[in-house]
Amino acid sequence: MWYHTVFSELVNTKYPMVQAPMAGIGTTALAGTVSECGLLGSMGCAEMTVPQLYDTALTLREITDAPFNLNFFAHSEPDNYHQVDSVLIETLTPLYEKHSLPFPKVPLSAENTSFTEEKLKAVLEIKPKVISFHFGLPDTHALDALRNEGCLILCSATTVDEAVYLEKRGVDAIIAQGWEAGGHRGSFKVDNSDAGIGTMALVPQIVDKVRLPVIAAGGIGDGRGIAAAMLLGASGVQMGSAFLGCPETALPEAYATAIRQALETDTRLTRGFSGRPARAQQNLYTRSFLDQSFKLPNFPLMYEYSEPLIDVSTANGDDKYAYHLYGQAASLNRGLPAAQFIEGLINEVNKLLNR
Ligand SMILES: Cc1cc2nc3c(=O)[nH]c(=O)nc-3n(C[C@H](O)[C@H](O)[C@H](O)COP(=O)(O)O)c2cc1C
Repeated sequence: MWYHTVFSELVNTKYPMVQAPMAGIGTTALAGTVSECGLLGSMGCAEMTVPQLYDTALTLREITDAPFNLNFFAHSEPDNYHQVDSVLIETLTPLYEKHSLPFPKVPLSAENTSFTEEKLKAVLEIKPKVISFHFGLPDTHALDALRNEGCLILCSATTVDEAVYLEKRGVDAIIAQGWEAGGHRGSFKVDNSDAGIGTMALVPQIVDKVRLPVIAAGGIGDGRGIAAAMLLGASGVQMGSAFLGCPETALPEAYATAIRQALETDTRLTRGFSGRPARAQQNLYTRSFLDQSFKLPNFPLMYEYSEPLIDVSTANGDDKYAYHLYGQAASLNRGLPAAQFIEGLINEVNKLLNR
């Protein structure tokens, strides 16, 4: 059967399919249901406090005995708390003035979204079957400690070079994230000249260069995408945007409407929200960054500038400044409860690959 792969065997799921972690957006109801259906449910934990991490794991274990994945960001500390480009200030001032918002002051501050020692300690106690990282890997001491507790380690790569590096660092599987993907690019060795390699091109080239199982991510929204990824040599898939249509995701109304009405042309990569490139719905806010070459505060400091405006849109229920992360194939979502959506996906792939 197409679903018996090295990856599904490794993570001990029936199907080699991962519901993508979506920090601040995914819910335990979604991840738990997905795991219960025989896929790997994931929680984006980057923005959680340590008590929230424990609560999340407890809730997941109340929903399911099946394996799940906890996901973290492994990014370096920002180094520009004090400098803010004057063009950035000129660009954002009219928007702040329009809504009578106080302009953020330097030094900037931000929540610590990196994989801290405290978070490591909590994960070692929680012992999830799988932990995955975005934006590279934490240091070797953290990886060794996780391995010693029996956690499998996954990490995103957006180029062949990044995948080869991850293999050398001893991860268990590589998530090949193509340009189509919703949310943040997981890149960690790419500068501003990101070549934007699509999933179709990226997956087979990574498969050819590493021995590890490769999970295809980006633009996969139905059985055709899953079957195509498997034929490209992937050992599994990771899907995010398609799950945004499931009621378990519990999106705010304006976001849910954007997903229901999504078009392939809606989104762009922007650094304007967080300081790192992320694929989001294009709107008034993201357009103000299009022709500007100024240096933005590093991830996650840029949120200090974007969040007050995001809050304006949230309060108004509009999408002018909204932070609606989704990918180029979001329109393939079915708006169905997760279990029904998954059943449909499996039937589609069965028909396509078992002919
Ligand atoms: C709303 C949203 C939030 C995301 N947040 C995370 C995250 O916290 N951690 C992570 O590793 N990937 C995150 N991603 C990226 C996914 O892991 C994955 O690469 C992507 O969803 C695949 O493309 P697709 O959206 O076309 O399925 C996010 C994606 C979306 C759509």
